[in-house]
Amino acid sequence: PRKIIIDTDPGQDDAVAILLALASPELEVLAITAVAGNVPLDKTSRNARVICELAGRRDVPVHEGCDAPLKRKLVTAEHVHGKTGLDGYDLPDPSIPVADLHAVEAIIHHVRREPPGTVTLCPLGPLTNVATALERAPDIAERLAGIVLMGGAYFEVGNVTPAAEFNIYVDPEAAEIVMKSGIDITILPLDVTHKALITNEWLAKVAALDTPVARVVSAWLDFYERFDLEKYGGAGGPLHDPCVIAWLLKPELFSGKHINVEIETHSALTRGMTVADWWGVTDRPPNATFIGDVDAKGFFDLLLERLARL
Ligand code: BDR
Ligand code: CA
Repeated sequence: PRKIIIDTDPGQDDAVAILLALASPELEVLAITAVAGNVPLDKTSRNARVICELAGRRDVPVHEGCDAPLKRKLVTAEHVHGKTGLDGYDLPDPSIPVADLHAVEAIIHHVRREPPGTVTLCPLGPLTNVATALERAPDIAERLAGIVLMGGAYFEVGNVTPAAEFNIYVDPEAAEIVMKSGIDITILPLDVTHKALITNEWLAKVAALDTPVARVVSAWLDFYERFDLEKYGGAGGPLHDPCVIAWLLKPELFSGKHINVEIETHSALTRGMTVADWWGVTDRPPNATFIGDVDAKGFFDLLLERLARL
């Protein structure tokens, strides 16, 4: 299996991404590293452990990372995810403890320990932990197989401001460090995730699985999609973060281009904008594969099939 580290700020859509990874034998989750984002760090750490416990996976270590962006005040998204970050179904506090190492040290440790080119980092939240690891241990850049992240936007522009997507907006300086790292980067932006809209029919199929995991997931997503209902004319909310894991499992469901992507860090108005040279109008060298399209039916079929295994 492909070895991955999931860096995350759960978040109902992060939760589904983590469950998709844990349900997939093609992937080995070395560690989950929590970062502040959708809600503060104590909650994202708790939620990550709640999710592992729900999946019956006490063997996956959950590390706590950075509690604030590199240079900015933390911006959170309780208006989307609720007070706990996982509103919609209350699970008891997890009995899984927080793993010993700081998330940044855990990322460095795993990447140095595994053979070069075998570990893929999967960031699903602000890039603070990842950027800090790259600054502290620059040698891990060439040891990584790649980074596959959810963040940014081009045609769809923004969700937290008119110009920016949440994960990049929260810590643009961290995103800039990642984009300049020379690592093989794949970006799943809003352009893709806004095509992965939850439908009532699909949610009903999840509920009909009628397993403990499916009951919780359908309640979480039922809460989560409400925020976007108006925006999508009654269709459900975008299932952002699972696109990262689905890309690892079935890249043939997605298409994109290898292009240059720069991060706006100076302007207050367009902070965190991903300036994506989709049409190649500059001579700046490509630094990321920017995904633009997804076979939504294939994506939701895959997700349902995997959730049924848990
Ligand atoms: C991203 O922001 C968070 O709210 C979601 O979990 C996702 O990672 C979408 O902009
Ligand atoms: Ca997230």
